[in-house]
Amino acid sequence: MTKSTAIRTRLAPLWALLAACTLAPSLEVAAQKTEAKTTIVNGAVHTDIAGNLINAHGGGFLKVGEYYYWIGENRHDDVLVSCYRSKDLVNWELRGDLLTRQSNPELAKANIERPKVIYNEATKQFVMWMHYEIRTDYSYARAAVATSSDIEKPFTYLRSFRPFDNMSRDCNLFKDDDGTAYFISSTRENRDMNVYELTADYLDVKEKVLTLWPGSQREAPAVVKRGRYYFMLTSFCTGWDPNQAKYAFATSMRGPWSALKNVGSPMSFDTQPTYILPIQGAKTTSYLYVGDRWDPSQYFNSRYIFLPLTFANDTTMVMEWASKLSVDMKSGKLSAKATTPKQLRIKSKWTGAYLAPLRTAENGANAIGNYRLDYAKEDQRWVVEPTGKDFARIRHVPSGRYLDDQAALSDKNKDDGQVWKIVKQSDGWCKLVNKKSGKALSIERSRNKSDEKLFTTAFDEKYDQHYDKQGFLLAPAYE
Ligand code: GAL
Repeated sequence: MTKSTAIRTRLAPLWALLAACTLAPSLEVAAQKTEAKTTIVNGAVHTDIAGNLINAHGGGFLKVGEYYYWIGENRHDDVLVSCYRSKDLVNWELRGDLLTRQSNPELAKANIERPKVIYNEATKQFVMWMHYEIRTDYSYARAAVATSSDIEKPFTYLRSFRPFDNMSRDCNLFKDDDGTAYFISSTRENRDMNVYELTADYLDVKEKVLTLWPGSQREAPAVVKRGRYYFMLTSFCTGWDPNQAKYAFATSMRGPWSALKNVGSPMSFDTQPTYILPIQGAKTTSYLYVGDRWDPSQYFNSRYIFLPLTFANDTTMVMEWASKLSVDMKSGKLSAKATTPKQLRIKSKWTGAYLAPLRTAENGANAIGNYRLDYAKEDQRWVVEPTGKDFARIRHVPSGRYLDDQAALSDKNKDDGQVWKIVKQSDGWCKLVNKKSGKALSIERSRNKSDEKLFTTAFDEKYDQHYDKQGFLLAPAYE
């Protein structure tokens, strides 16, 4: 799969973020078995009403009667797709496993991702479309279809295929007001996004309607209609790692679609889109962004993040961080409480990895390297302590030591070698220029990963949008 890290982004000024700091939200880990919950706590593990982890990754939602159904990837034992329901979007009940490895011989070794379900009024069938691969080999790049007359009962798996012979990976469905349904999927090795109109029974593609943003490598599509406008939200292709979500709008699914615009934060609050859920109440319709915070090393630890999507005007989508959310299902109103985390991770634009003390002793105890994002790793946590406008000390959380002009950690001192000028770029990333040496923090990629080390090099005012050795992101650790 294409891996790349760099994209144009925009972020609230760091100082605004720091000023807004209140408290670091605590993780709610314990399952609440008996007491009904009233709020969605982002960053916490989401458990169902039986106290078990919810397994509905890359999921989609569907309202049937008074219930919202949440259908997504399970990946536990032989289960591939599970179905939960809730009246309040907080208390979820597991209702059934819709696809398992035993459902069909084609599923015995399958990797099923991003299942989505819509209802066909004419055939009275629920129709599921999904991404089909075999084990961890992503070269099959197929779509697959399954149906059921009962959303809670096992689906009948029909087949996997490439729509009009096009590769098809991350995908979603969208059912328009007039019942026309569309399948949206990443194609051409994830370079392009195709939109297909489905046949009247929703079991096949009828027409390839559009190829969107050729070459821009978008995936994880989610579509919603609000008023006259259709919005499509997508991520960039960086595997399981988060990146900048972007949206586009149109007055028809057939386009023309606008250019892509940034929304949220450069790392999309550490999520990747999976769905946009409209909640229609008596007073208003609210829109919930649903994203996956993937943890590929411990798949079941992947979190679900729900954030309010608001609209500054008819065509401007806004996504802000919320630590806690409650939804008034009657009125349709959402209320959100946001706390901006004090701790952050520092991501290198050059390598896409996150700064932490070198984990190999032979490189010296004070040296700093960079490692793959790991939400559980404390050694990737930092705090920026402002010392004046645009200047700050950068403290490593577990050791309590500071980043210095040797690009290493040292005990706190009064030296300017521990003070950095944060030179912000228009995309939310920055360069860090040492106050004492005038040199910028930089990273070198070497063949031996354990040697990948921080340096300081002459500050280069030029800034590369995609690959910049001096480019870093101070990425708040949203919890
Ligand atoms: C992501 C994609 C996920 C999964 C993953 C595998 O980019 O959105 O659904 O396919 O890659 O690396």
